[in-house]
Amino acid sequence: MRTTDRLNEDWVLASEIHKLEARLWGLVRRENIRVVMVTSAERGEGKSMTVAYLATALARHPERKILAVDLDFRQPQLRVHFGIDGPRSFAAVLNGQCRIEDVLVKTDLPSLDLVLPCPEGEDPNLLLKTTELGELFAFFRQRYDLVLMDVPALIPVADASALMSFADGIVLVVMAGRTTRPMLSRARDLCLGMDARILGLVVGNLKEAVPEYGDSSYYYGYRTGYAKGQGSGRGRATRDRPRHGATTGRTGGPSSTDGGSGARDADA
Ligand SMILES: Nc1ncnc2c1ncn2[C@@H]1O[C@H](COP(=O)(O)OP(=O)(O)O)[C@@H](O)[C@H]1O
Ligand SMILES: [Mg+2]
Repeated sequence: MRTTDRLNEDWVLASEIHKLEARLWGLVRRENIRVVMVTSAERGEGKSMTVAYLATALARHPERKILAVDLDFRQPQLRVHFGIDGPRSFAAVLNGQCRIEDVLVKTDLPSLDLVLPCPEGEDPNLLLKTTELGELFAFFRQRYDLVLMDVPALIPVADASALMSFADGIVLVVMAGRTTRPMLSRARDLCLGMDARILGLVVGNLKEAVPEYGDSSYYYGYRTGYAKGQGSGRGRATRDRPRHGATTGRTGGPSSTDGGSGARDADA
């Protein structure tokens, strides 16, 4: 099912995504952030789905201009989430075969455009074309209020690290019941080692790991600010949640969106 249809049909999911969207939008407006990279420690932790839902929710406001860029050249997924066919591919512009404007893909939402690799993926070595990518991102920054980058996982490949300098901040996605604390800790260290700013954590799949949390298997949680000294230790990233909907303070576990609003101090 396409992202927009799913959000229209599942009001619990829609409400969680809109909470995320509101917090992210508030943060980016307050801090003049234009480009946000969404990544995670490992594959299959929900990055593409998070980008698809967030981009859709952000673009439901007609006055905004939102761009989602699929930079996972190995396993591109945004095309699937938005049900888009068509040959226009990111590689063409990086190889100088067409203009940037020609690879912008329109969606059903007037406020949302996409940039997509071809369905089979592209050569990830293209991501090392930093001059061309720099020009692309300069163009995106001028034209859009917010650019979301869907990229591969941090630990298995270097793509996300190579792309980090184009982003103003990182959102780390955690899959409850799957992402371990050591993995999350390593992902955080990779970001901080590149001097990247981690804007927050998005925790998905809460029903699987924390069944009492709610009915939707896509329940999301979010916390802002995540810095050195957090996220270490053993076990699954959500195991030591103190109680339903509570924030976890110093232990560095994720919080739910019910756990309070506004930006949390990075090491509070
Ligand atoms: N919040 C979530 N709750 C439950 N399942 C999820 C969630 N996010 C993603 N998934 C499922 O996990 C799988 C991988 O998601 P995907 O977004 O493609 O991961 P990634 O981009 O990190 O590789 C998909 O089958 C997707 O349906
Ligand atoms: Mg993906």
